[in-house]
Amino acid sequence: MEFDYKNVKVNKINKKVFRIYTKKHDDDLIELYSKSIEETSLIESSKHPLIQLKDNRIFIRNNEEFLFNFETLFSKLDNKNYYSIKFNIDNINVYGLGDKMAPIRKNGYWYKSWNTDTSEHHDELFPSLYKSINFIILNKNNSYIGLFFPSTFPYNFDIGKTKIDELVVNNFNYEHDLFVILGNNLKEVISNYSLIVGRPYFVRMKMLGNNQSRWSYDNEEQVREVAKKYRENNIPLDYIHLDIDYMDGFRDFTINKTSFPNMKKLTDDLKNDHIEIVSINDAAIKKDSKYFIYTKLKKNNLFVKYNNLDYVNTVWPGDCSFPNYLDDKCKKLFERYANKFIKETGVSGIWDDMNEPASFKGELPIDCEIKYNNRIVKHEEWHNVYGEHMNRSFVKCFEKENKRAYLFSRAGFATSSKYSFFWNGDNFSLWHHLRFGITQILSMSLSNAPFNGCDIGGFGGDTNKELLIRWVEAMFLIPFFRNHTTKNTMHQEAYSFDVETMNIYRKYMQIRYDFLPYLYNLTRNMHKNGELIVSPIFYIYPKDQVAKNIEDEYMVGDKIIIAPIVDCNTASRVLYLPQGKWINYFTNNVYVGNKKYILNLNLNEVGFFIKYNTLMPMYENLQYIDKENIDTLVLKLFGIKGECKIYDDDGVSLDYKKGKYNFYYASFKDGIFNFKIKKNKYKTGYKYLKLKINNKEFVLDFEEYNNFKINLE
Ligand code: GLC
Repeated sequence: MEFDYKNVKVNKINKKVFRIYTKKHDDDLIELYSKSIEETSLIESSKHPLIQLKDNRIFIRNNEEFLFNFETLFSKLDNKNYYSIKFNIDNINVYGLGDKMAPIRKNGYWYKSWNTDTSEHHDELFPSLYKSINFIILNKNNSYIGLFFPSTFPYNFDIGKTKIDELVVNNFNYEHDLFVILGNNLKEVISNYSLIVGRPYFVRMKMLGNNQSRWSYDNEEQVREVAKKYRENNIPLDYIHLDIDYMDGFRDFTINKTSFPNMKKLTDDLKNDHIEIVSINDAAIKKDSKYFIYTKLKKNNLFVKYNNLDYVNTVWPGDCSFPNYLDDKCKKLFERYANKFIKETGVSGIWDDMNEPASFKGELPIDCEIKYNNRIVKHEEWHNVYGEHMNRSFVKCFEKENKRAYLFSRAGFATSSKYSFFWNGDNFSLWHHLRFGITQILSMSLSNAPFNGCDIGGFGGDTNKELLIRWVEAMFLIPFFRNHTTKNTMHQEAYSFDVETMNIYRKYMQIRYDFLPYLYNLTRNMHKNGELIVSPIFYIYPKDQVAKNIEDEYMVGDKIIIAPIVDCNTASRVLYLPQGKWINYFTNNVYVGNKKYILNLNLNEVGFFIKYNTLMPMYENLQYIDKENIDTLVLKLFGIKGECKIYDDDGVSLDYKKGKYNFYYASFKDGIFNFKIKKNKYKTGYKYLKLKINNKEFVLDFEEYNNFKINLE
């Protein structure tokens, strides 16, 4: 059917973001750009220098070139309205789409946005996984643009699969509505996108620590044993996770009193050892007339409906109903249950699971309904944001304690990072899941969900010594580091194999903790500016054409490159280093960039490179993160000069919102060390500054050395 271009409207959201639509998707199911960013004007697209409608196509100009253009189509298919947008992607790379277990470069496949739980091995032929993030990045030569499709209805993305040079995005249920996001480079495009969907929230510093999990540690003794083993073997640890067996019959916010007779005592004892507990919470609620949550929700008519009755399907507890988390009253009830639970048990974090929503007897029918803002909303429209609304129920539990949330989720939508962070679901202990785990994490990163991670060692099936070691080496600086596995598999805690495995695990956890101030700076930049923590190399070097073909190496901030082994029985790999000079962290050898090398890596080694001339903020010898009691900030020089800006606050509270944080500026050049406290609104626990320059160490008094220069030669 002919598409009438006169219906297309273009709104200017800000200088770099435009919304092009025939009908705006009701924003009420999600929270889009902050109200402070007004849609300033309806621009007359035919005259606008950046967006033009011409010859039935929409042209978008970026970086002084007309690079991108597309055709919007409307037709009837199977009696359903079919809205699609067609882009020519000849010589265009496509990235994004969140957690798909697929290459970073998405060309050659099709994908579907429909939050999906599947227990099979995930791979690149799976069109949908747990999250629906309808954000894609198009890249041609040195130019990047972002496209965001805000409708919560399912989308299909055929990225050059049917026709190699065509990207077709379609939605059966919703008219055209997309944001076009421009920027001078990839970083700007992602940051501008992040402003539209919301910046990722700021995490606690402790959340950058090591997390140990298993489905399940069945009782208190087992949990204490894990804590003891980590401490006794000097492997840093900050959190232990409790999977569903801590509950009474898999009922949320209850405890199995036989196996966990005194949860509060357990969490208190572990806290004395600086280990905190995170507990799982599933989306569906056991249908049980004696269960307080079920009866309350039933009484208040707060379950998802099918044919006017509460819909029932099977999840872990057996028959379950599905709360209407989109409803404010429902959210408030869950907030109350969680508050009470947190208070009574002393758990520190909430792990939201099965919130796609997952159900074992087939998916919820498409006609399942909820009531939302006085309208009836069908499953097809609310499905993809169900998980997000569940997560939103718990944000205030932490806020009211003046704490940043430890809240993570399996399901999510494009707008979800402002409430929770993510892990990427049920991977397997397979080599290709290690490889795709990296691309999945990097794609989540590119999609404004930088704080994420996957089950280290693999969830399904037994891991083995070599796989676990390579997994730890590949991911020791990934934002969320959690070892987790399913029921009845071999144990895979750091100490579970042999001394060699444990020594290697310890070594990498120790390095992770050493780099905490650097990682923490990055999480702050993520929250403040929408910057990535880990990224493909081309995020930092967007003009580097070689970097665009690299899927198994990545950057941590702009100073670190990780090049792991992701294949079995392999002890060497090709290493690519972008421009500049790079220092091998382990050997101190200097490598020249813009070049490929063969890197030999024994079982205990990973490619770990620091940009030459970096002054790196670090810690040393930590076994856990108790920010306020860390007294020494280390600055280590890699190269002959360097500078850095360091963010500092209490690491846990929301006081940073009131400006209670510090910034330090440090530099070393020509033998002169310079340190300035640029902003000083937080009373830091740092007492000493330790400089590590070449092989020399200097310990200085932190307070005394504000604004000083010292000649160290
Ligand atoms: C789901 C989760 C997994 C968890 C299991 C039992 O499969 O993805 O992490 O261990 O449920 O709760």
